[in-house]
Amino acid sequence: MAFREVCVLLLPLLALAYAEPVKFLDCGSVVGKVALVDIQPCPKQPCQLHKGQSYSVNVTFNSEVASQGSTAIVHGVIAGIPVPFPIPVEDGCKCGISCPIQTQTTYSYVNQLPVKSEYPSIKLVVKWELKDDASKDLFCILFPVQIVS
Ligand SMILES: *[C@@H]1O[C@H](CO)[C@@H](O)[C@H](O)[C@H]1NC(C)=O
Repeated sequence: MAFREVCVLLLPLLALAYAEPVKFLDCGSVVGKVALVDIQPCPKQPCQLHKGQSYSVNVTFNSEVASQGSTAIVHGVIAGIPVPFPIPVEDGCKCGISCPIQTQTTYSYVNQLPVKSEYPSIKLVVKWELKDDASKDLFCILFPVQIVS
């Protein structure tokens, strides 16, 4: 086997091991399509969120509408009940998206998820939405996390 073939075979495997995309469910991205969700640091899934730390959430999506602005809304779903989860910056245009949003364009939305020390140590599902001017979801994703001390 030629050296070149070995490289071609091994490199994709290494890339997968070091940057495994977060498994998510789409909860109704009506005017966009999610390509990839990345949370750092998250060495194994479900992501363990340590109290007092902050995590970066990177959602790569394709918009299907034009929109002047975008607003993020985050909930923690605990036993089926969505509880508002405060994030420092709600304006998507300040989170890696260059606004106005254009149709059929790929954007990476990057924001911080701060985990307060007073949060309980529980497993929950994070519901992260980004809404356009008409309050329609550019993306809506669900991913499980575990809050740990
Ligand atoms: C977000 O993810 C996309 C797709 O993997 C990548 O191109 C981009 O550099 C990431 N942005 C940050 C700030 O990590």
